[in-house]
Amino acid sequence: MCDGAVIPHYGINLPRSQHSEWDRIMNTGREETLRYHQSFYAAHLLYEPGTWLHTPAPYIMQVVDHLPRNQACKVLDIGSGVGRHCIALAQQLPPNSSIVAVDILPLAIEKLMKNARKYGVAKSLTAVVADIEDFPIASNSIDLVISCSALEHVSSKDVLRSRLADLQSGTRDHGIHCFMINTDFREISAAGEELFGTIEFALSLGEASSLIEELYSSWDILDQSTKRWEVSEYRGDDRYNVVSTCLQILARKSEPRSHLSM
Ligand SMILES: C[S@@+](CC[C@H](N)C(=O)[O-])C[C@H]1O[C@@H](n2cnc3c(N)ncnc32)[C@H](O)[C@@H]1O
Repeated sequence: MCDGAVIPHYGINLPRSQHSEWDRIMNTGREETLRYHQSFYAAHLLYEPGTWLHTPAPYIMQVVDHLPRNQACKVLDIGSGVGRHCIALAQQLPPNSSIVAVDILPLAIEKLMKNARKYGVAKSLTAVVADIEDFPIASNSIDLVISCSALEHVSSKDVLRSRLADLQSGTRDHGIHCFMINTDFREISAAGEELFGTIEFALSLGEASSLIEELYSSWDILDQSTKRWEVSEYRGDDRYNVVSTCLQILARKSEPRSHLSM
């Protein structure tokens, strides 16, 4: 996949002799994403203390302050998992609002709907098993899109660009996008060895930031910031830490500029 002696991602120089190792990691990225989430959701409950499901991310929940107070809205949660954000949001949105939650894992969607019933919001939620890469997005139909730690799980930067563009045309004027996108993935083994993260494709912070700046230049950027993210995970009995830099974006779609006649 790389011609030169240097792999340009993460600023790491990787000798040509190790390029096949890089290819192996990237090719197993999707498999690893599914393996990890399947076993995690089987083992843990929504809002379980001591796990990353414990509470919704405040960064995503702030969207409530940016939506009209008394107007029903249509929400899309991409890579929803078992409902950490969409269930908490459903409890706070104006009456008659509706949320579509999309996740690739059938187990996540099954648990999400059970959780929605448990927390009394099943009526406002529709949960769909689908791949971020190809679920249909109707144009001009959504008021809010949220996505926490999921958009980086597509197969390439080109796919990410085209899906963000689809989400933009699916969003109504004044609609909001609130995303947390992990970049610069690394794995640190229990012995302290630093390895490339096993993910679908390597996305650096610089690449992700440039993509956002390019695509969202006509939107109002309400916030663009970064946060270090670290979580302990297991492969069998082997514990390792996943470290990444999370790019956080909160943006509002501006109305098209009118052409003033003189
Ligand atoms: C780190 S979890 C985050 C879940 C949820 N957003 C949250 O914050 O609790 C990432 C989620 O993205 C889902 N996912 C990964 N790749 C996906 C894809 N290509 N299409 C749809 N969902 C995907 C995984 O199944 C998983 O539930």
